[in-house]
Amino acid sequence: MITTGCDRRGPDGEQVDPREKIVIKFSHVVAEDTPKGQAARRFARLVEERTGGRVEVQVFPNSVLYKDGEELDALQKGAVQIIAPTTSKLSSLAPQWQLLDLPYLFENEEQVHKALDGELGKKLFATLEPYNIYPLAFWDNGFKQITNSKRPVVHPEDFKGLTFRVMINSKVLEEQFHSLGADTIQMPFSDVYDALSKGQVDGQENTVSNIYSQRFYETQPYLTVSNHGYMGYVVLINKKFWFSLPSDIRKVIEETMAEVTLWEREQAAKLNRKNFEKIKSSGEVKIHIQTPSERDEWQAVFAHLYQQFRSVIGNELIEEALRTKRTLP
Ligand code: LMR
Repeated sequence: MITTGCDRRGPDGEQVDPREKIVIKFSHVVAEDTPKGQAARRFARLVEERTGGRVEVQVFPNSVLYKDGEELDALQKGAVQIIAPTTSKLSSLAPQWQLLDLPYLFENEEQVHKALDGELGKKLFATLEPYNIYPLAFWDNGFKQITNSKRPVVHPEDFKGLTFRVMINSKVLEEQFHSLGADTIQMPFSDVYDALSKGQVDGQENTVSNIYSQRFYETQPYLTVSNHGYMGYVVLINKKFWFSLPSDIRKVIEETMAEVTLWEREQAAKLNRKNFEKIKSSGEVKIHIQTPSERDEWQAVFAHLYQQFRSVIGNELIEEALRTKRTLP
């Protein structure tokens, strides 16, 4: 018998019947050849192998099942069992997640990992407690770069009058662009290519692996390597489903997730580097690498955001992040 999600119940009405095959639907919005896409598939394969086929993880990439703005709801209702949204998108449930959208909060992956694998990560996880969601891991995507169709953006004033797509649910990301004199439109990831190619927005911010795998670079002749913000994922499982699983299965899933998380983080760095070279060699994009003094200019424009969002995000979380950054320059 094959059943999925929370409908599977054993005779005691709580635990999964040990004879049943367990199907886990893992839905995400990016291409397969991305850090998240590859890691989801690896996780699926390993869990299936390690449970002797008792658990089947079905991966649905590219928003084929649910897109941004739908997948969190689908997870909470148990229509899918696992999703891995960008952290910004959780701000609709808990605004504290906008912490990670603050520009230049972290300077490298090492700082990010130290923070998310430590106290800060625990505090963020705790905000999800009321929502029938159980957090399993933090995965990397990488640092964001800026693309646009109009002109090189080097200094803050170059943004004036341009319109940028921003991820859904994050006011910090909107304000980041507004403070540069640009407009914003919030949009699900699956709509971005179309919006860029039809000129509905002039530009967007994203990691190189997303810019490459979604072919954004084909419509965006200007790329600024600014590393101005981190974009990462939180892997979430439906809580009711999670606690209905037999403990031996939960153990396999947890151990496999921990292993795949380390692999995924290495893979994300590699893929971003590899895809950057591909964009460069396409010859279609004029690339500007931000200099330290340009970075100072951007940072000065963004500084007020830390104050503006302090009460929304919480002083404690901001200070915890900055403390981590100081200990790992
Ligand atoms: C985006 O919406 O640009 C990204 O969050 C997509 C993703 O999942 O990497």
